[in-house]
Amino acid sequence: MCGIVGITGVDDALPYLLRGLGKLEYRGYDSAGVYVSDGFNGGYLVKEKGRVSALVKKAEAAHVHGTAGIAHTRWATHGGVSVANAHPQQSADGRFYLVHNGVIENYQELKDRYLSGVTFHSQTDTEVAVQLVDKFAKEDGLSAFDAFRKMISLLDGNSAYGFLLMDRENPDTLLAAKKKSPLLIGVSDHGNVVTSDAAAMLDVTQDFIELHDGDVAVVKPKQVEIFDAQGQAVEREPFHLDIDPTETDKGAYPYYMLKEIDEQAVVARKISQYYFDDDGRVQNISCAISDAIRAADRIYIVAAGTSFHAGLVGQRYFEKWAKIPTEVHVSSEFAYDQPMLSEHPFFIFLSQSGETADSREVLDNIKRQGYPTLTIANVVNSTLTREADFALPLLAGPEIAVASTKAYTAQVIVQAILAYSFADTDFNLKQELAKVAVEVSAITDEKETFKEIADTVLHNQRSAFYIGRGLDAAVALEAALKLKEISYVQTEGFAAGELKHGTISLIEEGTPVFALLTQSKTAGLLRGEVAQVAARGANTVIISSESLARPGDAYVLPEVDELLMPLLAVIPAQLIAYYATLDRGLDVDRPRNLAKSVTVQ
Ligand code: F6R
Repeated sequence: MCGIVGITGVDDALPYLLRGLGKLEYRGYDSAGVYVSDGFNGGYLVKEKGRVSALVKKAEAAHVHGTAGIAHTRWATHGGVSVANAHPQQSADGRFYLVHNGVIENYQELKDRYLSGVTFHSQTDTEVAVQLVDKFAKEDGLSAFDAFRKMISLLDGNSAYGFLLMDRENPDTLLAAKKKSPLLIGVSDHGNVVTSDAAAMLDVTQDFIELHDGDVAVVKPKQVEIFDAQGQAVEREPFHLDIDPTETDKGAYPYYMLKEIDEQAVVARKISQYYFDDDGRVQNISCAISDAIRAADRIYIVAAGTSFHAGLVGQRYFEKWAKIPTEVHVSSEFAYDQPMLSEHPFFIFLSQSGETADSREVLDNIKRQGYPTLTIANVVNSTLTREADFALPLLAGPEIAVASTKAYTAQVIVQAILAYSFADTDFNLKQELAKVAVEVSAITDEKETFKEIADTVLHNQRSAFYIGRGLDAAVALEAALKLKEISYVQTEGFAAGELKHGTISLIEEGTPVFALLTQSKTAGLLRGEVAQVAARGANTVIISSESLARPGDAYVLPEVDELLMPLLAVIPAQLIAYYATLDRGLDVDRPRNLAKSVTVQ
C-alpha cells in the first residue's frame, strides 16, 4: 500500500527519491508525490495521479533541486484518487510538508475541535495532521519537534501511522515517527534516509535502524536522534540487511511474476539447506518453538489471502506429522469474531510481508490473552515477526509482483518442515523436497503448454472454476485467486463435492473448469464430478499426476509424495493465470485496486 521515502545530506535528493518510489511501486498505489527543499527556506512540491513515471516527468519539468526531500506513494483510503489528496500534504502557509502511511481514526474529531478556521484542500486525514503541527507551532510557539509530538499525542489509540515531516525553517532535517506501520532509518556516510521499505533505499545503504512504536526521530545529514514514546533519548543499533540490491530487479524477465514463478525451485532448495542438516535432520528451529508447540493441544493458523491458502495445506501437515489438531482462520474474521479456543492453543501467523494489518490485529489480541505465537514470514524484521514470541524465515527472497507465488510455495514448505520436525516417521522429507525442486523446474520449463491452455481455454472467458478434493481443494482456492486477481476472470475455487449442492447451475456451454487431480483417495470421485460438468457443456481441463493420469488429461504433473503435490499442482495454475493476463493485455505485476502489503484493515 502506501510507501514512504525521505533523504537528507545528498547533492541532489530528487533522483534518489524518484528511484525509491519506483522500488515501492510493487506495493500498490494510485498517486505519488515529492517535496524537495532547496535549502534556503523554499522548496518544490510536485504530485501526480497514476504511475510514478508521470510524477517523474512532472518533477523533471519543474527542475526540482535540493539536498533533502520526502516522497510518497498513496493508496487511497480517506478521499478519492486526486492530485489534491496525494502526499505530501502541506500546512496552510506552506511551512510543513507531511507524508503518512496508515489511518488516523479520530481525524474528523481533531479537525472539528482544533481546526475549525482552517481551509482544507484535500479530504485526507494527513492534511489534518500537518495542519495541527502548524497550529501548535504557530499558536503555542512550539518547535517543529514538539508540535509534531503534540499532534501525535492527540491521535486515537487505534490510529496507525508512519509519518515523515519536513519544516521549511529546518530544511535539512527530517522528523519521523511510527506506530503499527513500519518505518526504518537508513544510515550512511553519504546521507541518511527514512523509508517504510528497505528495498526502496538499498542503493544508498544496507544499514537500517528500526523505529519502535511511539518513537520520534530527528534525522539530519550526519546525525540521527531517536526518542521513545516517553520522550527519552534512546540508542538503537543499526542492523545490516543482507539483500543483494539486484534481487529486486526483474533482470531479463518481462514481469516480476514470471521471474518469481521461475525462482520457486531455487527457493525450495534454499529452504531445505537452511532447515535441514546434512543427515536430513531438521535444524534452525529453536527448542523453545518446539517445546511451545509440543505443549499445545491445538494449532491455530491465522493468515489472509494466499497465505491463508498456504495455511490450508499446512494444516494437513500439522495433523499428519505433528499429530496436533489444527485450524486455519482468515485473520480479518478472527480479529473481530474470535472462535472458542482450546485450553492450550498455539498460534502461527503466516505472511509474506509480515505487515498485514488484519493479521497484526489478531496477533495483538492473542498476545493480550497470553498465548504463544509464531510468525512465519518472508520479510525479516517485519512487524509480525518482531511482535510474535517466535519467528521463522521463509527465505523466498524479495517478492515484488502483487500476486504471491514463491512466498506461497515457501510457506507450504516451511510448514511442512516444521510439522515434520515432530514426526515419528521413516519418510525422508529432505529427499522428497529435493525431488520437488527438480520437478518444479521441469514444470516451469513447459511455459508454452500453459500459454496454450490459457490462450485457448480462457480467451474471452468471463468466468472459470478450479475444483479439487482434499489437498487439491486447498490448491484450487489458491489457483482461483491467482487467476482472478490478475486477469479479472471471475474464478471460483472450491471442493468438487460441493458442485452438486448449488454451483453446478452456473455451468454453461464452454465454461472453463480446471480440475486438480493428485489425490488417489478421491481421484475416482473427482473424475465423476468432471464428467458431470462436462455433460453440462463445461470445457474441462484436467491437471493430474502421473499415477492418476488418463488419456485426454490436459497436463500430467510429475509424481512426488501426495502430501507434497500441492507444491507442483500450484505451478500450472500460476502460469495459466500469468498467460491469461498477458492475453488480455493487462499489467501482470500490478493488478488494479490491489496492494502488495495490505496495511489497512
Ligand atoms: C495474493 C496475495 C494476497 C496476500 C494477502 C496477505 O496473491 O498476495 O492475498 O497473500 O494480502 O498478505 P501477506 O501474506 O503479506 O500477509
